[in-house]
Amino acid sequence: MVLAGILGTGSALPEKVITNADFEKMVDTTDRWIIERTGIRARHQAAPGEKTSKFAIKAARKALEMAGILPADVDLIICATVTPDMPMPSTAAFIQHELGARDCCAFDIAAACSGFLFGITTAEQFLKTGKSKRALVIGAEILSRFVDYQDRSTCVLFGDGAAAGVLGTSKPPSGILAAEMHTNGRFADHLCIPAGGTLKPASVKTVEAREHYIKMRGNELFKIAVRNMEEVSRRVLVAAKVRTEDVSLFIPHQANQRITDAVCERLKVDTGRVYSNISHVGNTSSASIPICLDECVRSSRIQKGDLILMTAFGAGITWGAVLMRW
Ligand code: ACO
Repeated sequence: MVLAGILGTGSALPEKVITNADFEKMVDTTDRWIIERTGIRARHQAAPGEKTSKFAIKAARKALEMAGILPADVDLIICATVTPDMPMPSTAAFIQHELGARDCCAFDIAAACSGFLFGITTAEQFLKTGKSKRALVIGAEILSRFVDYQDRSTCVLFGDGAAAGVLGTSKPPSGILAAEMHTNGRFADHLCIPAGGTLKPASVKTVEAREHYIKMRGNELFKIAVRNMEEVSRRVLVAAKVRTEDVSLFIPHQANQRITDAVCERLKVDTGRVYSNISHVGNTSSASIPICLDECVRSSRIQKGDLILMTAFGAGITWGAVLMRW
């Protein structure tokens, strides 16, 4: 039996950092409220003119270097993003060209914060069937382009960044042991950007109504996020016949420290086995989990043989969990 494993990781964050103190000057908020209600102290923000693929490519190069693989040897590129360079073509196409990869299959996935997990489980199918030997999966976002800096309930949450994983086949016991992905479109309006698509094409009216910005029903999402991440995490543990206490590191999507704490409390995962970087990165959507992964790999927080449980939740709504042995 062949499994799919991660051979290298890389991440890239914009230089500019926006602190809570900066938001105190923009909207009616306080450093204390943001820290207490979200755990966020700072987040990175792309400069004008910088595009999503710029950070994706930077992250991809680092991941390829760690994996010891040349861009020309990549035969599948998946970019998870809800903030593409352009509506058309895919951001994966720009990444492929600028990386110098050959004309392999390259496409985007729009699953918001669950994007990286959707991406690696999609790549897993290509790898296990032999359709791909070396896959590059990237989560990349410039959410600041879609954040309404007049809406205090959303603008403090999001950050920009990208991270990548190079995947290849691996021999058991290392690799992806169990994974489960879900979407429920019934709650699509809980987190969306209403205008700019075919429903409401860009017009003076949509711009004036600020409909090109993220609209979120945070309270409702909070409850669904906690419940769904707990349930799907339990199911992948059962599927892999692994006990919660055997998990070496739990990496949840970084949406809100209180969501992470609530999920961990329900799953009975002690804080020493939970990774959190929300204080300095914020919610970077599809880049969130791979940035955590890369920070853990590079700081040796993840060691060979460790059992890693990742779970995510995002717009769609989408959610899922992946259990892998490093
Ligand atoms: N500063 C000060 N006060 C604020 C701020 C702020 N930045 N934001 C909201 N408030 C106020 C509200 O206006 C409200 O005031 P009111 O009582 O006078 O009406 C009060 O704080 C409480 O508001 P709540 O919405 O109940 O605050 P809550 O504690 O729920 O926190 C938050 C809001 C942070 C948005 C939280 O609900 C959350 O994190 N939700 C989940 C987000 C999420 O999971 N998103 C999905 C993933 S993202 C993706 O897929 C791209």
